[in-house]
Amino acid sequence: MTATSATPEIDPAAIRRALAAWYADRGRHDLPWRQTCDPYAVLVSEVMLQQTQVERVIPYYAAWLERWPSFGALAAALPADVITAWRGLGYNRRALALHTAARRVVEVHGGELPWEPAALHALPGVGPYTAAALRCFVRGEPVPVLDTNIARVVARVLAGVARPREVPPGQLVAATRSLLPAEGAREHNLALMDLGALVCTARAPGCFECPLAAECRWWLAGQPPARTSPKSAALPFESTARYARGRIIDRLRSGPAAEDELRAMLPESHRPRLREYLAGLERDGLAVPIGSAAWALPPG
Ligand code: ADE
Repeated sequence: MTATSATPEIDPAAIRRALAAWYADRGRHDLPWRQTCDPYAVLVSEVMLQQTQVERVIPYYAAWLERWPSFGALAAALPADVITAWRGLGYNRRALALHTAARRVVEVHGGELPWEPAALHALPGVGPYTAAALRCFVRGEPVPVLDTNIARVVARVLAGVARPREVPPGQLVAATRSLLPAEGAREHNLALMDLGALVCTARAPGCFECPLAAECRWWLAGQPPARTSPKSAALPFESTARYARGRIIDRLRSGPAAEDELRAMLPESHRPRLREYLAGLERDGLAVPIGSAAWALPPG
């Protein structure tokens, strides 16, 4: 990124220094998954954190590791138990992905998380973000870890725009990479993550308390508003297929159920689509038919 007279020169070393000092003082050092470099524990935390808030994940993470402390232990679990333990975290497919990944690590990779890129990416639930997070948080590799918080900080500080959506993805990756230190990438990425979560937030950025304000192109440009159109208003959650699927899985967690019972349990507007929801859950491996008109969580 080249600076013009209107865009101040970026000084990555100054940004790293200010960020590190802020993180030492204000970072969320106590988060349980930051106390370990065990690949299994880090994978569990990253999959749980993919779509669920930090505070909500904390008790689930502890209980999960207590019950299934290793790839081997999780691989030996029954899918129904894994889906049941996920209750309350949402996006149940993540539970099955984690379970399938554990089985593959045990059966194909001798119980060790594979680091070869194709093998790592082939694990269910491990997309580009999670693979980068594993490389950085387990092995300290200096790779960009572009979660939503880091993307927002980088979009503002380096590209001078309010939202990451305003920056082409390749440019955002390159900008994030340009900030990485050769040593200490783990702390650096965790610091960016915390700055995005605690200060450089989407709705109420705390620029007056931001350690990067003096280096931030967005702040120095007067915080121009987002140029992209706002997202269209979301549907009420209760009207979504995700809600209905969640209700069905919640019911099956306490045992098999007849289709009629499942239909009666759903709000009226969802009932005509019950078959479609069940077919989707079966495709995702989250439910299986038993007999002609009843359903259960998958067996072993
Ligand atoms: N620490 C490590 N990974 C994290 C994540 N995804 N969210 C919050 N804190 C983290």
